[in-house]
Amino acid sequence: MSCKVSYLPKILNMNIRNFTIIAHIDHGKSTLADRMLEMTGTVEKRKMTEQVLDSMELERERGITIKMQPVRMLYNLLEKNYCLNLIDTPGHIDFSYEVSRALKAVEGAVLLVDASQGIQAQTLTVLEMARSLGLPIIPVVSKIDLPFARIDEIKKEIAGICGSTISDILGVSGKTGEGVPELLKTIVFRIPPPLELSNSLSSPLSGSQNILRALIFDFEYSEHRGVILYVRIINGEVKEKDKLLFIVAKTQFQANEVGIFSPDKKKTESLSSGEIGYIVTGIKTARVVSVGDTVTNTSRVVSPIEGYKEPSPVVWASVYPESQDDFSELKIALERLRLSDSSLSYEEESSGTLGRGFRLGLLGMLHLEIVIERLKREFRLALIVTSPTIIYEIKYPGGKNEVVYSPSKFPEHGSYESVSEPWIHAIIITPSLYIGGVMGLLYEHEAEVGLSETFGDGRVSIKADMPLRELMRNFFDELKSVSSGFASLSYEKKGYRNADVVRLDMIVADEVVPAFSKVIARRLVEEEAKKTVERLHNILPRQLFVVKIQAKALGRIIASKTLSALRKDVTGYLYGGDVTRKKKLLEKQKKGKKKRAIHGKVNIPHDIFLKMMKGK
Ligand code: GTP
Repeated sequence: MSCKVSYLPKILNMNIRNFTIIAHIDHGKSTLADRMLEMTGTVEKRKMTEQVLDSMELERERGITIKMQPVRMLYNLLEKNYCLNLIDTPGHIDFSYEVSRALKAVEGAVLLVDASQGIQAQTLTVLEMARSLGLPIIPVVSKIDLPFARIDEIKKEIAGICGSTISDILGVSGKTGEGVPELLKTIVFRIPPPLELSNSLSSPLSGSQNILRALIFDFEYSEHRGVILYVRIINGEVKEKDKLLFIVAKTQFQANEVGIFSPDKKKTESLSSGEIGYIVTGIKTARVVSVGDTVTNTSRVVSPIEGYKEPSPVVWASVYPESQDDFSELKIALERLRLSDSSLSYEEESSGTLGRGFRLGLLGMLHLEIVIERLKREFRLALIVTSPTIIYEIKYPGGKNEVVYSPSKFPEHGSYESVSEPWIHAIIITPSLYIGGVMGLLYEHEAEVGLSETFGDGRVSIKADMPLRELMRNFFDELKSVSSGFASLSYEKKGYRNADVVRLDMIVADEVVPAFSKVIARRLVEEEAKKTVERLHNILPRQLFVVKIQAKALGRIIASKTLSALRKDVTGYLYGGDVTRKKKLLEKQKKGKKKRAIHGKVNIPHDIFLKMMKGK
């Protein structure tokens, strides 16, 4: 089998290495990838920008990887040409679905651990993901150039969790390039070439070896070329103009172009077994393509490759266009976004006051922020976003059950029998110096603290179960703050338990604003009501009339504040001492204000909804 690229020497399947770099957030994956691209001559030094694989505007602005990015590098070792396919993955826990998909498309992983920070919670999660797939792991200490790098100590920590010997752990600097040549060699030696799997056809047919099976591990959308699939070829070969089929979706299409990531897309003659590349489909309709589906080139019965689990949303929020005229634009925008973000799920919904909109299912608060930001920037939409929430299962008397995704639809207190909510199992790693603060925070967030273990040089890992609702209540930020930024957290969902929660509504000028409603622990009702009223009072622009802001829960008003009126200068054009005329005008203005304060509707600008959503 060969990588048939016209301008490249022929590369045997034996000479392909597919691998991914995994790590906790900010441990240096993209910077290391930069050096690999440079040293293999994939990107010329003069064209190199920092974190070249983070190509989205938002990724560059925030300095984080949001979307995985594959790239092919040519590498010569002992006079043999190797084709190294690297997939750079995001480190933030909200994007771990990307990591799980990348891991299934490769034969090995480079595990990076920052020399100044050591093992963090997400290191353990990604390591576990790679191990569960039986992938060989190359452990590496990164950022060894840092003056306060603790290389030997961190190597010991890594040896402890990976079961490797200290001498097998490499050290690299993505900044200076030190250790990167050694790592490239190790990748060739320790990661196996792709295996040719047998084509499991339902009956043995001649020529089955040419049957294509390609795993879709990601995709993107281009206005001109439609959906572009990111594939790992498991068997066979695909060429331009081939007639293809999605095995699960049962839809036919044509390969309008095939190629590799270099890192920009480069057209090739074909892609064959073991390779990673792209297929341009021309498909412009949503919901045809899904990650984990298998592409084939025959209508004979071919078993699909084991795909991916559907991502399970953690947090929900609804979006409505500020003007209902933009509803179809919002719909198109979400369809497009879904074509570059397979973790996003959405469903149409309607609300009496807000009109038609969509309920979004997301993998965390950062994911929500990114999606809203992309809708704003890439599609120029003015949106009303509701307070994010987790899901609640409500049990009514008489046995009826309901799943509630939106706080404004959470039933009135007393109308139901019980509520259950999702819990999580969390791992927190912190220097022992901060353990008191972390424990205090865990108890404050209703956690049941389990085992804690000391490891490395004065660090502790704590296991705890807690309601997902409490994790979403700013837990991440508070954890960073009590540990001066040193503690890290990773979690997984762990069943449902009964919840003692109530709905809190915000009333602005005598009208409930459904987008501001939220479901909170009953014990926090007073505190949360006061805080939310205060926040809204601080950010809501003053109107020409007095506006009452109230918080209501358990059938009563819990907190209230008045936003004074903006006094328009109705006498501005008068000059001199015409006092009677001035008085008359002010009198008239007062009457007008009274009228509007009773009947008026407050016009809430859409950025207020965004600020309330972020809790800032
Ligand atoms: P995410 O994908 O968002 O998880 O980040 P990442 O793991 O790709 O880390 P990235 O390469 O973006 O680096 C994070 C920060 O560490 C940046 O400020 C880099 O400049 C810095 N950094 C990365 N590698 C090195 C290194 O080898 N030495 C030093 N001194 N700094 C580094």
